Amino acid sequence: DESALERHFEATIAADNRLEPRDWLPEGYRKTMIRQIAQHAHSEIIGMQPEGNWITRAPSLRRKAVLLAKVQDEAGHGLYLYSAAETLGADRADLTDRLINGRQKYSSIFNYPTLTFADVGVVGWLVDGAAICNQVPLCRSSYGPYARAMVRICKEESFHQRQGYELLMTMMRGTDAQRDMVQDAVNRWWWPSLMMFGPPDADSPNTAQSMAWKVKRHTNDELRQRFVDMSVPQAEALGVTFPDPDLRWNAERGHHDFGEIDWAEFKQVLKGNGPCNAERVAHRRAAQDDGAWVREAASAHAAKNAGRIGA
Ligand code: ACO
Repeated sequence: DESALERHFEATIAADNRLEPRDWLPEGYRKTMIRQIAQHAHSEIIGMQPEGNWITRAPSLRRKAVLLAKVQDEAGHGLYLYSAAETLGADRADLTDRLINGRQKYSSIFNYPTLTFADVGVVGWLVDGAAICNQVPLCRSSYGPYARAMVRICKEESFHQRQGYELLMTMMRGTDAQRDMVQDAVNRWWWPSLMMFGPPDADSPNTAQSMAWKVKRHTNDELRQRFVDMSVPQAEALGVTFPDPDLRWNAERGHHDFGEIDWAEFKQVLKGNGPCNAERVAHRRAAQDDGAWVREAASAHAAKNAGRIGA
């Protein structure tokens, strides 16, 4: 009966065990997981665009091969995550519809433009760095298929992060113009990277329930602080500064203090009014329309083969 199933669900979470697709799940938990996994999958897919922008203009064959591989990894992460959402009863085509009709979100960060090749490095360093910071704890998330997906995704993300940092190190050893390009990219990406972690805890409607269900293991502000603390020495080693006059070590707290984030900007980006929202969704919609004949042909071919086996 329902109460025994509910007890099993609660006991699984209390024991830090994983919930699996065959387990009974409360509707709220299922909805939360589909929401988070779908948003995460959409972010991986939309996230191919800002970097994909530079594949044809990479400065060397080596950089091009690395970038191509990285963008392909993001596609893989997206497909992997859509599969995890399907284990909860979601339909992949429906999720894509929701994305291109603006009914499901994707990460705010991918609504900013990549203006120079230094942006490729900074996206690897800061954006993938923030993603790792957020996602490593999700390897212990209570939903098994999501937690397991995170293990592989985090391994690949740490490679992405290091390629970004290495690219920036190379540019910093170059000319003044290259160093300026890196600093300019850091100035543009720092604040949006901090916004990736979501609204402050006091304004985060989902955190309390997601923590209780062990979907999330840390709050948005905890992970944002962790990211700031790990990024400061990396910036020093690289020779760049962050565009925040209030950023300084606080010995009492044992953490860096940092300035106020522009939450009005964050809200505008979530509403669809960021610098690239319209372009990103239009591009995804065009890809979906252009690929319709491939999906139809593949389905027709599969149906024909199924008929042959049946005969
Ligand atoms: N961009 C877009 N939307 C966001 C962002 C962001 N940076 N941060 C929060 N939101 C949305 C939430 O999805 C939620 O919207 P919804 O209720 O309509 O779904 C709303 O703002 C309020 O936020 P929270 O209550 O804090 O939401 P939640 O508990 O889900 O926490 C978080 C947000 C931290 C992003 C969480 O969902 C998470 O960890 N997701 C998995 C990681 C992920 O999606 N990463 C994608 C970017 S990294 C990459 O792909 C390379």
